[in-house]
Amino acid sequence: MTDFYRGRRLRRSAPLREMVRETALQASDLIMPYFAVDTDDASFRREIPSMPGQYQMSLKQLEESVARAVDCGLRSVILFGVPKSKDPIASEAYAPDGIIQRAVRLLKKRWPDLQVITDVCLCEYTSHGHCGILREDDEIGEVQNDPTLELLAKTALSHVEAGADMVAPSDMMDGRVLAIRRRLDGAGFVSTPIMSYAVKYASAYYGPFRDAAESAPHHGDRRTYQMDPGNAREALREAMADIDEGADIIMVKPAGPYQDVIRMVSDAVDVPVAAYQVSGEYSLIKAAAANGWVNEEALVMESLLGIRRAGAKLIITYFTEDLLRRGLK
Ligand code: PBG
Ligand code: ZN
Repeated sequence: MTDFYRGRRLRRSAPLREMVRETALQASDLIMPYFAVDTDDASFRREIPSMPGQYQMSLKQLEESVARAVDCGLRSVILFGVPKSKDPIASEAYAPDGIIQRAVRLLKKRWPDLQVITDVCLCEYTSHGHCGILREDDEIGEVQNDPTLELLAKTALSHVEAGADMVAPSDMMDGRVLAIRRRLDGAGFVSTPIMSYAVKYASAYYGPFRDAAESAPHHGDRRTYQMDPGNAREALREAMADIDEGADIIMVKPAGPYQDVIRMVSDAVDVPVAAYQVSGEYSLIKAAAANGWVNEEALVMESLLGIRRAGAKLIITYFTEDLLRRGLK
């Protein structure tokens, strides 16, 4: 018996550290988000000011970005759409020729093996910017839960009909997973998984995304449907409810600031857990790195390892392309 513990023995060399490393990141864990804009200008590619390195893109530009990323080993994408027009009932969300429906067809035709996931929500498509519909002729009222379910189910089905491999409802209406599952099953898509944004907080970290997706609510906020940041145990109720309704993968969002919640949820459920490192988490790292205050490459890896270590198998992150370009396998 020696007198004290020598933890440094297993840290002596890089190969040894690698041998005993419990958690690592793999290319197959990562999902890259893209913003597709419905525009006639095929050359449209606009950098999002609050998200340096991320772009709003025409379908043509999206295809070129994905082509470069696939060459580096990209396996999976999640798509967000910016439609040409918005209305109170989010018609473009479920239009057979909507921006997402066309984007899915394009990507799946060229890359049948690419996992194409779609975000299912109405906020990018409603004139008022809320994730559900309001009472008729009421542009300032409360979001109506049950009437929204029908539109979400319709949207999800239209994505799957276009060829989406998986749908990811992010609206936080109660009962949407069940509504979507029933609609997909009824149309014969029994094998298409649902990744539910089950545990989604009303977060200030979504700010930059709302610039990217042009989806900020025009009045009020999302606190009547997204979760209160003070609550952790409520995450279990949300996760269990969605699993009961048929969710195949459960997501926690944001990721870094909610690692305790990722841990609680992943200990409690037996389905895969995903986490979304959201726009604000991305922008904070980018801003500090641009100032030379942190080492971006190292910080990105450390931030994602923390999320992985907390129990997330899958991570949606805007750093996916960068990591693949740097050779992550
Ligand atoms: C749409 C949606 C949002 C995000 C993903 N899907 C924004 C929101 O709820 O306001 C946020 C993603 C990010 O910040 O990167 N409901
Ligand atoms: Zn939304």
